[in-house]
Amino acid sequence: METSSSPRHPFLEGLSKHRGSPPTVLVIFGASGDLTKRKLMPAIVNLALDNLLPTDFHLIGFGRKDIGDDAFREMFGEAVKEFSRREADDDILNRIAEVSTYCSGNYDDPEAFGALKKKIEACEDALGRPMQTVFYISTPPSVFKPILENLGESGLASRHSETENAAKVVIEKPFGRDLESARDLNRIITNQFDEKQVYRIDHYLGKETVQDLLVQRFANSIFEPLWNRRFVECVQITVAEDLGVGTRGGYYEQSGATRDMIQNHTMQLLSLTAMEPPVSLSPEAIRDEKVKLLRAIQPLGLDPSDGDAVRAQYGEGLVAGAKVPGYLQEEGVDPHSATETYAALRLHINNWRWEGVPFYMRSGKRMARRLSEIAIQFKRPPGILFGGDGRYDLAPNTMVIQIQPDEGTTILLNSKIPGLETRTQPVKMHFRYSTTYGSNTPEAYERLILDAMIGDSTLFIRGDETEASWGLISPLLDRWQELGQRGMENYVSGSWGPLAADRLLWHKGHEWRRTGS
Ligand code: BG6
Repeated sequence: METSSSPRHPFLEGLSKHRGSPPTVLVIFGASGDLTKRKLMPAIVNLALDNLLPTDFHLIGFGRKDIGDDAFREMFGEAVKEFSRREADDDILNRIAEVSTYCSGNYDDPEAFGALKKKIEACEDALGRPMQTVFYISTPPSVFKPILENLGESGLASRHSETENAAKVVIEKPFGRDLESARDLNRIITNQFDEKQVYRIDHYLGKETVQDLLVQRFANSIFEPLWNRRFVECVQITVAEDLGVGTRGGYYEQSGATRDMIQNHTMQLLSLTAMEPPVSLSPEAIRDEKVKLLRAIQPLGLDPSDGDAVRAQYGEGLVAGAKVPGYLQEEGVDPHSATETYAALRLHINNWRWEGVPFYMRSGKRMARRLSEIAIQFKRPPGILFGGDGRYDLAPNTMVIQIQPDEGTTILLNSKIPGLETRTQPVKMHFRYSTTYGSNTPEAYERLILDAMIGDSTLFIRGDETEASWGLISPLLDRWQELGQRGMENYVSGSWGPLAADRLLWHKGHEWRRTGS
């Protein structure tokens, strides 16, 4: 059967360099939404520009709004203009338009899924052989359940099962809002799909620098002997944003910094930094080590005055010279809200490698600047020669992996200032992506969409991993909920967070890094 919307010729015939994935129908749920336009469409266009889409490719947008095929296709042009790292010419956009269709319907309506199934079958009929379907769920979490159930009941989840064309499901965050809901969601997913068909997104894993963490750790011999409690004094992970909640106040009120950033992105950075070497680079080997690490983290101390966590909200302040409102004055935010826009945690990993080394992590909105980094601070050398009497300007050796912006790695060393007296100064050795590789590196979503199509789940979160991470965070969120606004700190917009967060580090005489480098 051929319909007017079926692909009549293979996508980029003869040009595709991508031999790794079978013919693919990519279905995006939430297709008229913000994420599709900001991230997914630009990623698809950039994959097309690099000839990395499968030779036989079809895209179906599914959404509640009845926007029609043409408006959906036009969204690509707008998405590229506003959000793509590269421009795309009309040829590419026309080719994408030719293989794109839109399907409107309610997520809880079995008939809409019947219609979707017919469209997918029409693509296969036009091609004359089976195609894998990748279902990308990019909707609000309230409709994850009906979508997953309808995928099951319509038979879409089990099409071509046990073959290389078995369906896959990619699921966006938030993955639950506590341990119980994450478990429920895992149950709903695995009622319809095998774990090996499931790709839970954490877009931080798609970032170049995050992938490079594994290479820096395990493809270099100089760091490994130092990567343990004997040489490391502490580790600091910062994921700071200068933006406020903007127009997302409504969403953010239900989330807060801990759910939005710590439970997922920051914990991923932690587990890749601290995990044991995996036995291979296979997805399961890497994810096994991440889960082991997460399970080795000691439960957080929850005492509001002397616990392992601090939360805060931003007040008004100056960001890039402009006055900005406090969180409680933002649109969509309850003026008595007890939602944190900043969280800092002190973690202890009870395993052989890390016993006694504190891992500090913090994330917040409206901080001094946008900066994500992992800083490994090494122990000071014996002070017999330099440093014992405070005469020398010395800093602890620190390796800073800059996740963004200004991606790269910096190592802080102490050096003698040239001259006839012995004076010292901390200096930096830099490796910069922009100078070594140029600055136009792929966006996280390009890699993730490609990997899902190929069937490589290394950069996606496994079910047990989400539960291990929630297992640590959920008791803290429960405690904060009980406390309401009690214990909520405040910080000035444009600062590095509340003073109370400094206290988390005092027990060992540590302090937060104030700048990136
Ligand atoms: C998202 C959060 O997951 O990550 C946002 O929901 C946050 O609140 C964003 O702004 C940060 O991502 P990035 O890639 O800009 O660091």
